Amino acid sequence: MSNFQVAYNLIDSLASGSKLTFEEFMLLLEAYQSDRGNDVYRYARNKAAGIRDSIYGRNVYVRGLIEISNICKNDCLYCGIRKSNSHCDRYRLTKDEILERVHYGYNLGIRTIVMQSGEDAYYTDEVLVDIISSIKEKYDVAVTLSLGEREDDSYQRLYDAGADRYLLRHETADEEHYSKLHPDNMSWSHRMNCLNSLRRIGYQVGCGFMVGSPYQNNMNLAKDLVFIQKFQPDMCGIGPFIPHKDTPFACEKAGSVELTCFLLALIRLICPNVLLPATTALATLSSDGRIKGLLSGANVIMPNLSPEVVRSKYTLYDNKANTGLESLDALDSIKRDLEINGFVLSLDKGDRVGFDRKKIRGD
Ligand code: 5AD
Repeated sequence: MSNFQVAYNLIDSLASGSKLTFEEFMLLLEAYQSDRGNDVYRYARNKAAGIRDSIYGRNVYVRGLIEISNICKNDCLYCGIRKSNSHCDRYRLTKDEILERVHYGYNLGIRTIVMQSGEDAYYTDEVLVDIISSIKEKYDVAVTLSLGEREDDSYQRLYDAGADRYLLRHETADEEHYSKLHPDNMSWSHRMNCLNSLRRIGYQVGCGFMVGSPYQNNMNLAKDLVFIQKFQPDMCGIGPFIPHKDTPFACEKAGSVELTCFLLALIRLICPNVLLPATTALATLSSDGRIKGLLSGANVIMPNLSPEVVRSKYTLYDNKANTGLESLDALDSIKRDLEINGFVLSLDKGDRVGFDRKKIRGD
């Protein structure tokens, strides 16, 4: 059997609900890489899009992304808002500024708000509980948090205050690779424990990783896929690595849009119901990156809802897109762009199909 035939069979297995081993994921990645004609990618993409359509139809869920602070205590080697980047112009939004953006998004029809930030100690549990409960009192929205690693009881308090979902990319499922991307005081096992806690508490949980991060090889990627297959995240954020000029990885190569799309397709096959964003990083590297992601099985977009004046300051990587179709101000154009490509913009809250929110404590 040729490499490609092996790959088609493996893709068929995934599509019929079987699990693959680490070695089989390695074979798939190798077949993709040796395939000059891109047939393996196309085969995976078509299967993935078919499965997505059968579960979510052609709906694309819109999340309003508010980047509430770029202050961060961590020093991740790849990230532009890392603590030791003294060129980063730091900001933090107040409760009122956040609520103003929620109000604006809500009036546009947005029903999921994502609050993302660096690990900023200002946002204690008290501060966040106050913000989350105010949002949930006034607006009928799902609240997604993306605030990094916190203690278990903190995650619990934020959940009890009404937070619905939590995004925490695992960054890489390989501990040794993790240690090459992060300083010594950060721990892979702590990050994995956070994901397990979030799951136990009852959040819809998102993990994810960068494609083409420095030192990444096929073994790392196969481990990511095995991890995702086991963890079965409700959401999964993947995007190409893009260097930032003021980081130790300034001179590293960016990841590939095509490989990211192939992996999006595999993740859709591995977790059929997953909420899968076509990320900003994908849109930053290629003008049709977002559509390519959607054609590969993605079904979520997260346009920017941060105040205009801070948008250019949340620079995780160089040239991060935050205008045009990456901005929620252009919701009408986003809708049209989706329709041209056969998708329907959905303003539903867009929970993961099959997800059942556990009763919160005290109910
Ligand atoms: N390129 C691409 N993605 C990045 N992130 C951080 N820095 C970069 C970069 N240089 C991603 C990380 C993080 C998420 C918020 O953004 O995966 O979890």
